[in-house]
Amino acid sequence: MSSFEDLCVQYRGIPLPREGYSEDLKFFEEFNFKDDDILIVTYPKSGTTWMQEVLTLVLNGGDLTPFQTIPSWQRVPWVEIKSMVEHVEQLKSPRPLSTHFPCNLMPSSFLTSKAKVIYVLRNPKDVLVSSYYFHHMAVFLEDPGTLDEFIEKFLKGRVIFGKWTDHVKSWKCAELGDRILFITYEEMIQDLPAGVRRVSNFVGRNLSEEVIQKVADNCSFKSMKDNKMSNYSTVPKETLDFDKSPFMRKGIAGDWKNHFTSEQQALFTSAIRKELEGESFTLPWSL
Ligand code: A3P
Repeated sequence: MSSFEDLCVQYRGIPLPREGYSEDLKFFEEFNFKDDDILIVTYPKSGTTWMQEVLTLVLNGGDLTPFQTIPSWQRVPWVEIKSMVEHVEQLKSPRPLSTHFPCNLMPSSFLTSKAKVIYVLRNPKDVLVSSYYFHHMAVFLEDPGTLDEFIEKFLKGRVIFGKWTDHVKSWKCAELGDRILFITYEEMIQDLPAGVRRVSNFVGRNLSEEVIQKVADNCSFKSMKDNKMSNYSTVPKETLDFDKSPFMRKGIAGDWKNHFTSEQQALFTSAIRKELEGESFTLPWSL
């Protein structure tokens, strides 16, 4: 079984999956952000694919063609993955882009541009559970071990993209003003049309209520689970093993309650609170 060190590369203190990433990210450091770019930012397992779907449909005014014909990672490519450069080059402005990077790793052109950011935040306990299952299915990631072991790794940042708290802090404290929209996974679960409306207003598309409803319908968990262009089922088994877990797994808020013991819940909550002590922002849910 391969170790975490074998499976990851380190980039400026952050562990990245060796699959797809490299220590040398010169191409990314030289990435030229444009003023009208729209960047989805997430810590992994926070609802990236969901927002990629919402943003695609919002920018297309509800036209389902790209959603049905182009895989999500080509429609809204990751800026820090070299093999995605060709997809980025094919995008028309405004370019929908994705990143899992903390703000402090963004290239200088991001800071000087007016590119907009949609930051999707999810309760870290559900992020952890989702990530636990993802570690089982993603052949390129370390076996997560027991839930106790995985909680320890997650809290220490011994997981891809490092600590959840560092990621959130970096973007919450970035002082991007009205360039950044914070939206939660939980609010989209509660009222998806309202979430779609927030996104469309933020990117300057005033969609009719009919189109907002159409976008929300097509971005439901069921619709995305059935869509080959969003459910990652076209990825070979050597990379994602769907016999271990589906990518579109449960799609609910609060699944941590089905997994955490009361001891794990207490330990996790106090560790996250401690990490965020003294910060000027509050989280949108009580932990
Ligand atoms: P679960 O494993 O809890 O089901 P990411 O895209 O950042 O990797 O996040 C994946 C998580 O988002 C998975 O969570 C997945 O099921 C969930 N997800 C994806 N599309 C969704 C949708 N339309 N509605 C609700 N959850 C969705």
